[in-house]
Amino acid sequence: MKEIYDIAVVPGDGIGPEVSKAAVRVLTEALGSTAVLRFAEYPAGAELFQRTGDSFPAATFEACRSADAILHGAAGLPGVVHPDGTEAGLDFTLGLRSKLDLYANVRPIKLWPGVTSPLRGREVGDIDYVIVRENSEGLYAARGSGVFLRGEVAMDPLVQTRKGIERIVRFAFELARTRGGAPADGRRRVTCCDKANVLRSYALFREIFSEVARGYPDVEAEYALVDAMTLHLVRQPSHYDVIVTENMFGDIISDLGAATVGGMGMAPSAELGDGNGFFQASHGSAPDISGKGIANPYGTVLAGAMMLDWLGRRHGDRRLLDAARRIELAVHDALAQRNALSGDIGGTMGSADITGILCANLAPAASAA
Ligand SMILES: NC(=O)c1ccc[n+]([C@@H]2O[C@H](COP(=O)([O-])OP(=O)(O)OC[C@H]3O[C@@H](n4cnc5c(N)ncnc54)[C@H](O)[C@@H]3O)[C@@H](O)[C@H]2O)c1
Repeated sequence: MKEIYDIAVVPGDGIGPEVSKAAVRVLTEALGSTAVLRFAEYPAGAELFQRTGDSFPAATFEACRSADAILHGAAGLPGVVHPDGTEAGLDFTLGLRSKLDLYANVRPIKLWPGVTSPLRGREVGDIDYVIVRENSEGLYAARGSGVFLRGEVAMDPLVQTRKGIERIVRFAFELARTRGGAPADGRRRVTCCDKANVLRSYALFREIFSEVARGYPDVEAEYALVDAMTLHLVRQPSHYDVIVTENMFGDIISDLGAATVGGMGMAPSAELGDGNGFFQASHGSAPDISGKGIANPYGTVLAGAMMLDWLGRRHGDRRLLDAARRIELAVHDALAQRNALSGDIGGTMGSADITGILCANLAPAASAA
């Protein structure tokens, strides 16, 4: 257990600064007057790239590497691109993943009380699964490599290795053991989501999944092709508990999952390696709503709670584990009473006011009630 934890905060672009500010405020409130977390802000992203030509300064990387955890708002602005057409704002997130080997991208998809799912008849408790997205290999690992020929031909290789697949699948099964099973039947289940019928790299993913699954007889193992998976996540989300999948597939199905529980604003994520943890909402910089004060802060606040949970377990620190639970409770209460809803989830409240309500819910008198 440490006395103080250093948190590197990278606000980023668009709504990034707005939602990261909300999360820092809630995290600080949850830990009371004790200065347990020491926040320091560092620049990265598309706007920085526009100003300086550097999207991810070396000093920001060094601060992130040496911090106890990293909290991110969001980065990227469409149109701010490198000569090859890819977005400069994404250099931070993608660079951090590979440089710190943040191989497990954990994305809970949970329907909270007070939030209406666009899926008819789905209530709180019906949707509660986690997408474990492989974060270090797959198609996205090809960024910056591959072939780009005279603006005529572009090729991005899809690489998957035994080591990479094994560790992410094992992570998914271990995670399933900590959970209460799928909402539909209470069974612990890991679903391998791939495209093994078409590409060898996915066939390898499935083969290694089966090998690892044999070591977890207490957890049900099953398979779904990614195209069918999009159908299943809409028609029978309650069946799912933990889903493990390749990098790009995880990116895509987690947006679909987020849509079923209220949208991008309700989806947190934790990107974990053996030594570092990086926490942000699953959404991007939402340029269409930035600067208006109307961004939904719940995803980033919940990512902050995941950060406390991760730090608390790593360091055996009850203060942090406790604060994580209290934040989840504050979110639960705010949403259940339907008095702190942003526009994307059917309300009219801005992010600063929602943050204020979350902080009030965290006050000792409120939590004791
Ligand atoms: N981790 C990241 O930093 C990250 C992730 C995804 C996309 N991006 C980048 O973000 C930029 C915008 O991408 P996009 O528009 O495809 O995706 P986006 O997630 O930013 O937005 C998609 C839709 O969801 C809404 N939305 C997202 N977050 C919201 C919130 N907190 N509250 C209310 N509504 C919210 C937006 O208004 C938009 O309608 C691009 O530059 C993209 O590359 C960054």
